[in-house]
Amino acid sequence: MIVLGIETSCDETAAAVVTDAREIRADVVLSQLDDHTPYGGVVPEIAARAHLEHLDGLIRRAMAEAGIGFGDLDAVAATGGPGLIGGVIVGVMTAKAIAAARGLPFVAVNHLEGHALTARLTDDVAFPYLLLLVSGGHCQLLAVEGVGRYRRLGTTIDDAVGEAFDKTAKLLGLGYPGGPLVEKAAARATNPARFELPRPMLGRPGCDFSFSGLKTAVRRHVEELGGVLPDADRDDLAAAFQATVAEVLADRCARAIRRFKEDHPQGGALVVAGGVAANKAIRSRLSMLAEKQGMQFVAPPLRLCTDNAAMIAWAGIERFRLGESDPLNFAPRPRWPL
Ligand code: KG4
Ligand code: ZN
Repeated sequence: MIVLGIETSCDETAAAVVTDAREIRADVVLSQLDDHTPYGGVVPEIAARAHLEHLDGLIRRAMAEAGIGFGDLDAVAATGGPGLIGGVIVGVMTAKAIAAARGLPFVAVNHLEGHALTARLTDDVAFPYLLLLVSGGHCQLLAVEGVGRYRRLGTTIDDAVGEAFDKTAKLLGLGYPGGPLVEKAAARATNPARFELPRPMLGRPGCDFSFSGLKTAVRRHVEELGGVLPDADRDDLAAAFQATVAEVLADRCARAIRRFKEDHPQGGALVVAGGVAANKAIRSRLSMLAEKQGMQFVAPPLRLCTDNAAMIAWAGIERFRLGESDPLNFAPRPRWPL
């Protein structure tokens, strides 16, 4: 089975060709970073226009790299939401057009399901597993019991982790996109233990997250230090922020593992997914936790953590081989909880 995947829900235009033998035949991503950087964040209207301009060319490139024609495809999958609606419409309409012209099945994929199932594309991971999904818009702990079977154990009561990274980067004067820049600054820190930040929710019952207090604490430090920070202060504060986030995520995961094991005594893997899963400090903290708990730890390669179309093609395959597809009148969904 060979499937074309399309991703256009945020600021990455992406197309990929993936097989049910877990082979990524092509995976092309065009970041719109330069279009949005002057505005310090993603501008939905600019994103939609950029997707429209580049998507056809990217699909042609992916098909050429995979060495196939449209006639060789078994299905077309596109992100159907959640996300910036203008972009989602561009991806969905393009996928429908190909599907209609070639008489192929169309699969509308939930972007979060794409992140959630990536580990099964890259590693031998069986259901059930415990998933920490951490991206720009989402922060959830889910028991993944099968395709389409997700049980939420915890979520954020305010900001998503990626959002906290992005806002902290702004406060520190690091720019956009925040996550990778905070990670780089933290790696340069000479005194990472200098700042102590509050650890929201640490030790509290349940598996929910909260990050707005942490962001406020960073702001207070920045103000106390005079607003514009010398490099050394900025790097130390970035390191404190990153270490605190890693600690809080590990604490919440430890609680979720306990609950997960009550329902699934036979165990399962701890999987991390979403853009923030690209962070090496967070990965290594979670890997330590998994080892301590006797669980397999799976984190997809960095380029499959951030937004890409291989994960959309793969989620399409997972659903399509269970006999699922979507009608051509599927309406793009700006909101679509898992
Ligand atoms: O999954 P993703 O590419 O897009 C969404 O679906 O949201 O995640 C993007 C988020 C951004 O907030 C970005 O700052 C964060 O992931 N991110 C990181 C890193 N790379 C990306 N956060 C921390 N460390 C990183 N290395
Ligand atoms: Zn994403």
